[in-house]
Amino acid sequence: MVRLDKWIATTCGLTRKAVREQIRSGQVLLNGAAVFDPGQYVDPETDVLTVDGKRYDAQAHAYLMLHKPLGVVSATNDRTQKTVLDLVPPQLYRKGLFPAGRLDKDTSGFVLLTDDGAFAHRILSPKQHVQKTYVASLSAPLSPAGAEALRAGLTLRDGTALLPARVRILDDEQKSVEIGIWEGKYHQIRRMLAAVGSPVETLMRTQIGSLSLDASLAPGECRALTPEEVREIEKR
Ligand code: URA
Repeated sequence: MVRLDKWIATTCGLTRKAVREQIRSGQVLLNGAAVFDPGQYVDPETDVLTVDGKRYDAQAHAYLMLHKPLGVVSATNDRTQKTVLDLVPPQLYRKGLFPAGRLDKDTSGFVLLTDDGAFAHRILSPKQHVQKTYVASLSAPLSPAGAEALRAGLTLRDGTALLPARVRILDDEQKSVEIGIWEGKYHQIRRMLAAVGSPVETLMRTQIGSLSLDASLAPGECRALTPEEVREIEKR
């Protein structure tokens, strides 16, 4: 059991003073009913807290959309480099968050952060057919033969066999492409494009499943997904 004000402060990233104000103004509900005693003891494992209309409960998992900027590593901690978790604001942070699928340090775009291991497994497993969509700019045009090879499923020089990819050329010069893949092998997009003679200059992940990166999120910004958006990820 923990004190209500302490629980709200850590769960919502609020100061004790802000917590007291929320409680005084009737914005804090415990299992659906307003509570006014900041010193009341509650059980985070079973009680459901609502603060300012937003529901928090221990059983529910967190799902965050992060616009990963360049230069940040997709790790949970790193002694010298900034990680995706360092970008999560305190009010959205919770223990156990990890990136469900990594982006290279020099790739930007949509990273899903969650503490739901089963969900992460489902979206990462090629068997579940959750498409990850990337936009790449290339230093040499993608030839029609190169695009066909990617669509057919390439085998890299080291013997790594890749599943067929979705390829859409975005410009007349054929140096901007959208690629959809259903798996996440090491440096996959960069290696597959280099293999067909069109090395990647910049790479951004724009979509996971049917959910696109929110255009209003600046690089480095992060927000919680709505339950509907979480479902979008697994939609085909
Ligand atoms: N493919 C890559 O090469 N890099 C990424 O970050 C993601 C996919």
